[in-house]
Amino acid sequence: MRHLLSTRDLAREDAIRLLDVAEDMADVQEREVKKLPTLRGKTVVNLFFEDSTRTRISFEAAAKRLSADVINFSAKGSSVSKGESLKDTAQTLQAMGADAVVIRHGSSGAPQTLATSGWIQAGILNAGDGTHEHPTQALLDAFTMRRRLHGTASRGKDLDGVSVAIVGDILHSRVARSNVWLLRTLGAHVTLVAPPTLLPVDVSGWPVAVQYDLDEAIADGPDVVMMLRIQAERMNAAFFPTTREYSRRWGLDEERLGRLRADSIVMHPGPMNRGLEISAAAADSPRSTVREQVANGVSVRMAALYLLLSGAGREQAV
Ligand code: NCD
Repeated sequence: MRHLLSTRDLAREDAIRLLDVAEDMADVQEREVKKLPTLRGKTVVNLFFEDSTRTRISFEAAAKRLSADVINFSAKGSSVSKGESLKDTAQTLQAMGADAVVIRHGSSGAPQTLATSGWIQAGILNAGDGTHEHPTQALLDAFTMRRRLHGTASRGKDLDGVSVAIVGDILHSRVARSNVWLLRTLGAHVTLVAPPTLLPVDVSGWPVAVQYDLDEAIADGPDVVMMLRIQAERMNAAFFPTTREYSRRWGLDEERLGRLRADSIVMHPGPMNRGLEISAAAADSPRSTVREQVANGVSVRMAALYLLLSGAGREQAV
């Protein structure tokens, strides 16, 4: 693996390998000393042009636990706010000897541009680009599902036959897109559940089923219900009448939670709008994996950095 830009082209064996390495990393997180010397002397730059809490902290923790040097760069307060281009920023990072660049950017395709431009030699990890993809989020979601379903016997397994309902603001969600491709590759069945206004115009090329009614989707008894945040900051028009109406029809409230199959799990990538797409009762219930997802994120990002930077599996281009 040279870069991690999307899940769409990620081969099944590469995805499983990454999830298995993440299991090893999770074992390390159980130890008293959580640090490995693996990436000593390597420099990882977190290049964040968009706000982030958990993804940035998670990548920082992952890089530090592998003993890499970490440089955090956020566009606010940098020369980017003075109009410096992505090219100039990349060339600066190249001159500083960055081995990996973790990039979050408002424009879909920015990580791909960095990876193919020749401006910088570093391995590029996409930490969310516009409404395009967020591959490490999908990988940590798959890791979380696999652990809940297979427990300690997860290694080597995929998600064959698992049914996943992804609910809410699909239109603006890079998390949904990365999940759709990865879950397909791992053998799961995905149903998108949303009002028509929050679905992309044409999903006929996606490997998914579509439903417009959350109650019908719940009646089907999915193994996993993944709630998505209403991304108000990306909305420049009215996509639903009122927030009250949205949560009445598409929110996971306590009553709907009670109608889920007893062994099904509730996921959310965060940040959550409590009371809008997900109620506090659902977010904090034992079937919610929200905090596990955050913890698993560190293990999965350690695996991604390790596979990109240690030279392991260099021949497997992603
Ligand atoms: C997501 C993102 O930024 O795409 N959050 C995350 O990385 N945990 C989803 C969101 O912002 O709603």
